[in-house]
Amino acid sequence: MAVRPILRMGEALLLQRAAEVSDPCAPWVRELLIDMHDTMHAANGAGLAAPQIGVSSRIVIFGFTRNDRYPDAPAVPPTVLINPELIPLGDQIEEGWEGCLSVPGMRGLVPRHASLRYRGVDEYGRSIDRTVDGFHARVVQHEVDHLDGVLYPMRMRDLSKFGFQDVLFPDQPAGED
Ligand code: NI
Repeated sequence: MAVRPILRMGEALLLQRAAEVSDPCAPWVRELLIDMHDTMHAANGAGLAAPQIGVSSRIVIFGFTRNDRYPDAPAVPPTVLINPELIPLGDQIEEGWEGCLSVPGMRGLVPRHASLRYRGVDEYGRSIDRTVDGFHARVVQHEVDHLDGVLYPMRMRDLSKFGFQDVLFPDQPAGED
């Protein structure tokens, strides 16, 4: 078990397309997931993608019952998602505030598909197939973007809605970032 350093925006690896995982049940995946969980929980994050700890593979984790960094967000089930595929449902786009452990201290207003279906497998090779909306849909899109080398500021349409968390939201508890 280990808390690993989180790469920050500017690292070239965060801009790469991550590789498909040929064997989701491989021992290295199980070991990586332990480090990803330890790292995400130590940073009080809502999700983490493998590239954020320097591993360019298509693996993300997300989920929480309650998160101090997103105090108003509804619970999202703890999920391991390997080789994900996203299918947007409908044309509705919603703007919402996001942060990222690779962009510490910042928040931005990001447009995302309001509703989508996602598919993939977990670390036991079991298939995952869910239709979600709201914050759950937002979190999945944010994490899967990491696998395609996209950080949330690259999705923003209005950079006047990008700033420091403690300035934008002085009443919210500061996150670990
Ligand atoms: Ni992120």
